[in-house]
Amino acid sequence: MTSTAAGVVVVGGGQAGFSVVSTLRASGYDGPVTVFAAEPHLPYQRPPLSKKAHVEADGIRVELVPETFYRERDIELRIGDAVVALDTAAATVVTRAGEHFSYGHLVLATGARNRPLPVPGADLAGVHALRSFDDALTIGRALATVRTVVVVGGGFIGLELARVARARGADVTVVELADRLLSRAVSAQLEARLRERHERAGVRILTGTAVQALQGSGRVERVATSQGVLPADLVVYGIGAVPRDELAREAGLAVQDGVVVDEQLRSVSDPRVSAVGDCARHPHPHADGLVRLESVQNAIDQGALVGRRIAAGSPAPYESLPWFWSDQGDVKLQIVGLRSASDEVRLVPGDSPERLAAYAFRDDRLVAVETLNWPAEHLAARRLLERGTPVSNGDLAGTTLGALARARRAVEVRT
Ligand code: APR
Repeated sequence: MTSTAAGVVVVGGGQAGFSVVSTLRASGYDGPVTVFAAEPHLPYQRPPLSKKAHVEADGIRVELVPETFYRERDIELRIGDAVVALDTAAATVVTRAGEHFSYGHLVLATGARNRPLPVPGADLAGVHALRSFDDALTIGRALATVRTVVVVGGGFIGLELARVARARGADVTVVELADRLLSRAVSAQLEARLRERHERAGVRILTGTAVQALQGSGRVERVATSQGVLPADLVVYGIGAVPRDELAREAGLAVQDGVVVDEQLRSVSDPRVSAVGDCARHPHPHADGLVRLESVQNAIDQGALVGRRIAAGSPAPYESLPWFWSDQGDVKLQIVGLRSASDEVRLVPGDSPERLAAYAFRDDRLVAVETLNWPAEHLAARRLLERGTPVSNGDLAGTTLGALARARRAVEVRT
């Protein structure tokens, strides 16, 4: 079966794919638009899943927009219809049902999948990873009955889940392989303070600890680690994500831990294909070399950039300022900018004990800011970094970004 609907075909019904199609229509594109969404749900938000869905279980609404949104805009949403192959020479995608579907432009918004837990027993009942809405419901229901939870991985997902499980009364241990939490995302200075807060909330944290096996008869009962055996009624793991780039790889497009794209997010191998969101590896003015960013901000902004480019033929480089957030119990962690390991980091206390910031400088220029429970400072950092005006360590001596931004605005108003 072959359908001809040249126009824009988007593979992936997550935040990035939604951003592409909503921007296409908002920017006046009136050709055919088709989205292939493999999951059996309307496109939905993922961030609440690890923060709320467990608490509110089945009651939570996470759809981005109702089904009428797509109908009113003549967007063909193929829910539960997965693309299994690309033929870039013929400019078609092939669906699981065997349909060949033509495109004028193809956007890959396939996201990422969880890294599987590479130990014996990972397939026992009571062992779960979290990515989809259905995963969140499963974990939410399990949390209603378990007493002892082992969380494998002390990254974003692990720490959010650890605090949700703790809030529901479970005895929680986080097992992290690296010698500290959140080593991919957060400075060592801020991490130490974040860890204290989780420990104060009753989460037991084992860093530098390897999981060797999950044990039990049919259902998980114990976790064997390099620091001993932990009892467990439920194991949840979040040990990182890998991009879903296999469609591009099998089609012969350049792939390197993500679909390699140029500054306009077009495949470097085929200008009729773009990639956006977690699955794309791209240049960025704040990074040395290519980066792949896993965040909602990145998904939305990249989708919008490609939507505008296709609709209006207005090519622009992708240079949105990256920012991230994670709600871990009573801790709101926010990050703006891209820090690298060699940056100089200075901790700055806020005006109340729960507030804290870490400023990261490269060659005496502010490049990234991490905050705990201090949204105003995060926003001030975003404004200053977005403007691109240099801020040095000296500029911030004895002051905060919020105060500096206010002082600079006052000068602008006077001059
Ligand atoms: N055992 C224990 N910990 C491990 C192991 C292992 N075998 N392998 C990796 N880890 C640790 C890493 O050291 C890291 O601290 O797991 C953590 C993974 O953290 P993230 O990279 O933040 O990944 P995760 O929490 O799974 O989140 C995946 O989903 O919500 C998004 O933004 C989030 O992009 C992130 C993605």
